Amino acid sequence: MTDLLRVENLRKTFITGGPPWNRSKVAALSDVSITVQRGRTLGLVGESGSGKSTLGRCILGLTKLDSGQVIFDGVEVQGLSGRALMDFRRRVQPVFQDPFGSLDPRWTVGRSVRESLDCFHIGTPADRDRRVLDLFKRVGLNPGLAGRLPNHLSGGQRQRVAIAAALASEPELIIADEPVSALDMSVQAQILNLLLDLQEDLGVACIFITHDLGVVEHVSDDVAVLFHGSIVEMGDTDQIMMRPEHQYTRTLLAAVPRPAPTHPR
Ligand SMILES: Nc1ncnc2c1ncn2[C@@H]1O[C@H](COP(=O)(O)OP(=O)(O)O)[C@@H](O)[C@H]1O
Ligand SMILES: [Mg+2]
Repeated sequence: MTDLLRVENLRKTFITGGPPWNRSKVAALSDVSITVQRGRTLGLVGESGSGKSTLGRCILGLTKLDSGQVIFDGVEVQGLSGRALMDFRRRVQPVFQDPFGSLDPRWTVGRSVRESLDCFHIGTPADRDRRVLDLFKRVGLNPGLAGRLPNHLSGGQRQRVAIAAALASEPELIIADEPVSALDMSVQAQILNLLLDLQEDLGVACIFITHDLGVVEHVSDDVAVLFHGSIVEMGDTDQIMMRPEHQYTRTLLAAVPRPAPTHPR
């Protein structure tokens, strides 16, 4: 079976703004390759500025790559247009750190979820109101909240809405960029557990982006460690948590508040 997602030798350099004599280059990603299998979660971990979001955005097609390939279900994504591009967008959905970014503040949250269903023609129009309520229940939200505006919900509830909107199109891959980083500790655990449940129930694959190796251990089958735009270590989560090979991974592990790295799960 083909890999669900293959990223091959991806490079991305940003030229920072300003007058021509004052521009500098930032190599955000240099020669990055990763693979995601169907139904599995890859934790993408690294400190702030290591290139995690850029990689996520390149995969989603939100940032243009300099070179390299993104291959989804055997098809190179950069060449897609029209119906094929729409189909890719349906199958690969983002969840961002700040759900305010993806939810229109003027729309009820029910409408935001409904918009996803409309956009990708999921179900019949008459069906969709019921589907919205099902999605609310699926992410642990009282369907009665569907009529509220985003700023009348808590941060955790908003992130649940964003997850419902992502799930609406029945994606095969979710790219979650620091989805719990802005939330209180107790709420973080609830949202992580929700994501774990969804993985188990729906079999949706996930790239889980975080700066926190402790979170990765909780949710990921595999880990890729990004350092200054390069993958320095990649493999099975348990193995990497127990026996990190790269010094940088050990440093990240040391930041996890518990007696790592030899502590058994
Ligand atoms: N739009 C942009 N313009 C210029 N530089 C950027 C842009 N986006 C990211 N960068 C730079 O690329 C590097 C990686 O950023 P990012 O992918 O956001 O890292 P992370 O998500 O791991 O914190 C950083 O040095 C950042 O400043
Ligand atoms: Mg980021």
